[in-house]
Amino acid sequence: MWGGAEEKDALAAIEKSLDLGITTIDTAPVYGFGRSEEIVGKALKSVPRDSYQLLTKCGMNWETEEGEYFFDTNDESGRPIRMHKYAGKNRVIKECEDSLHRLRTDYIDLFQLHWPDATTPISETMEAFEKLREQGKIRAAGVCNYSAPQMKEALQSIELASNQVRYSMVSREIEEDVVPTAKDAGMSILPYSPMERGFLTGKFHPASRFNAGDTRAGSRWMESENMHKLQKLIEKLQEIANSKGATIAQIVLAWTMGRPQVATVLVGARNPDQIQENAGALSLQLSEADLNDIERTIQQLALV
Ligand SMILES: NC(=O)c1ccc[n+]([C@@H]2O[C@H](COP(=O)([O-])OP(=O)(O)OC[C@H]3O[C@@H](n4cnc5c(N)ncnc54)[C@H](OP(=O)(O)O)[C@@H]3O)[C@@H](O)[C@H]2O)c1
Repeated sequence: MWGGAEEKDALAAIEKSLDLGITTIDTAPVYGFGRSEEIVGKALKSVPRDSYQLLTKCGMNWETEEGEYFFDTNDESGRPIRMHKYAGKNRVIKECEDSLHRLRTDYIDLFQLHWPDATTPISETMEAFEKLREQGKIRAAGVCNYSAPQMKEALQSIELASNQVRYSMVSREIEEDVVPTAKDAGMSILPYSPMERGFLTGKFHPASRFNAGDTRAGSRWMESENMHKLQKLIEKLQEIANSKGATIAQIVLAWTMGRPQVATVLVGARNPDQIQENAGALSLQLSEADLNDIERTIQQLALV
């Protein structure tokens, strides 16, 4: 969905991350249908296990017709694949074993349900998570893409560490009730797509072309009115970046890291250069005036 990736770049990106003090790596079985986890396992095989945290997921299946139909896609060789959201107890336990094997480890730091599965009671999925935790195969349990009511229901069965959700300067839906629910429960928010899959770096324009299979081609940000508004925000971010000797990506990431309940920001980086730039956000401080400036621009443009 991101237009493919080169294994050697991915390995080099992970190595660079560790060099720069980034210790949290998020992956999932469904990313490359096992391939992403295998690459992460390969990259980290000689690194001391207690120097990084592995986050992976379960419940997005391409091997079973059980559960809720999600979407159709293709694997690397073009073979059609049908995705289902399914998180029955036995399936979750099997997926955990498969992930441990691909990641070449004996425990996962944070095991997350990838998407809600409307066909399985939440308590059943959480029972599997609890069992895995008791067995020491996972250190903590989390969810992704859960609404506030789903979080509350799951919390009746298990202590959840986090909810991984889409969140950026211009995708703010979670602020209404997911973030307050996380706060009440002492849970973390792990934002994904903080750079709107690259659109918030300012590098895309109306004539941008994408690789086959890259779903960014159909993004709402490719629609001319939206892109025009986004461009205005990018200009403001560039102004702030210039005043700090920073880049737009760094401003965007620093903003995201500073939001309530955010524990770590999940940034997609395809190569060491992107890691190098993005890691620069760790030492960047946005002032109250910068934050107000950004907020005013977003509101004026009606971007949320
Ligand atoms: N739980 C879920 O349902 C879910 C869903 C989506 C993502 N996630 C997680 O969140 C992670 C991040 O998501 P994402 O990839 O959508 O988010 P993102 O960080 O908003 O976008 C990543 C994209 O931005 C571009 N990029 C990164 N650094 C850049 C830089 N310094 N300069 C220019 N472009 C840069 C790259 O685009 P190019 O490809 O053009 O180089 C990269 O593919 C994923 O890897 C995954 O772990 C989870």
